[in-house]
Amino acid sequence: MLVQGLLSILAFAGTAFGELVLDRFDNSGINALGNWHGCDGSMSCQWNGDSLTIQSADTDNSFFTQFKGACQDLGSFNDQFLHIVCSGDKKFSVALTQNNNGCDMSRAPYPETWDIVNAEDYSNGEDIYIPMSHFNIMKSRTLGVALKAFRNPGASTTFSLIEIVDSAPGGVPEKKPTGPLYFSCTRPNSIAFGIDDGIPSLTEDMMKIVDSEGIKVTFFVVGNSLDNPDLPFKALYKRALANGHQVGFHSYTHPKLEGLNSVSAIDDEFLRSHDAVMRNLGVDSRYFRAPYGTDGALTRQRLEATVPGTKIINWSVDIEDWIWGPNDPDRQQTLAVQRDLSKGGNLFVAHYLYISTVEQLRQFIKDAKATGKQIMRVDQCLMDPNAPPL
Ligand SMILES: *[C@@H]1O[C@H](CO)[C@@H](O)[C@H](O)[C@H]1NC(C)=O
Ligand SMILES: [Zn+2]
Repeated sequence: MLVQGLLSILAFAGTAFGELVLDRFDNSGINALGNWHGCDGSMSCQWNGDSLTIQSADTDNSFFTQFKGACQDLGSFNDQFLHIVCSGDKKFSVALTQNNNGCDMSRAPYPETWDIVNAEDYSNGEDIYIPMSHFNIMKSRTLGVALKAFRNPGASTTFSLIEIVDSAPGGVPEKKPTGPLYFSCTRPNSIAFGIDDGIPSLTEDMMKIVDSEGIKVTFFVVGNSLDNPDLPFKALYKRALANGHQVGFHSYTHPKLEGLNSVSAIDDEFLRSHDAVMRNLGVDSRYFRAPYGTDGALTRQRLEATVPGTKIINWSVDIEDWIWGPNDPDRQQTLAVQRDLSKGGNLFVAHYLYISTVEQLRQFIKDAKATGKQIMRVDQCLMDPNAPPL
């Protein structure tokens, strides 16, 4: 391992503008640079000695391999190509991730963002050549490569090499545009609550708490609940808008978008939910939150194609209601909030699905205020020139 690490340092130092081998898949613990790589526990990863075979039934799984534990400056590699050698199914995404500004895995968010492409678009036989310039991230803070969003649950892919090379034989396609992906607020000293879908009986209580605490938040609304005349959401979100809150969209039927089996099904989810928010609430939103946080190249590309200019709003404070909500006598949701706030997280994901969450909401707001940061809507915390003044 020491020898391998040393060799890779030499290789790296010798080719600052040249080629760089990131992963040969010959060691399940470390990659060719001596750094960590590994698979999410819930997918099948078979190490074959000189390759890795991945099969995943869920688009949320990923394999990740790091250039460095901190930040790798790949600024000088922008004219190069990421070369991946693999056989088998090509319906997956390749992401290049960017670390946070402290290059510190104990801070939130980690990673800070990423850009992502569809492997299929770049694949020729067993080779995939992706221009590094197609990954729109801050390359001075590159963290690693993720192979993820495997869309074909029955199929497998075997990887044997990831490297950066000087040229790509044959042509490469145009970059399909992707919008920005945010895990945190960009305005200094700001903090924002992004609140997703919940249940009708708790909406009123949740909104009362938010208003009585004197804060403005952002609601991400599922289109079909808004369109359903038997549910109270239209009237409730209208009132929320009148009270100064922001409304964004959160798909039409709440599926894992990347897992849908056609591009038109993905497009429909974006178009119909954007339209539902427009028709019912009069808001032409450019703020989207992905159901389950599911991510992938198709999701990113189709969102940009159907509702151009839309920002995907992820999170750096997870209240973990999806784990603790049903039964939380020890107030684990509050502990989760305090943990993420102490790491510097400033963009919340919350729902109002459980009484236990709504009961702790005042405490979350109190803890957010105690950071000294100012609580505001997501558009305000991202310094959107169209956001209302603070
Ligand atoms: C959102 O964040 C979660 C947790 O870090 C991550 O698993 C997911 O891929 C992210 N989703 C998007 C759309 O960025
Ligand atoms: Zn949701």
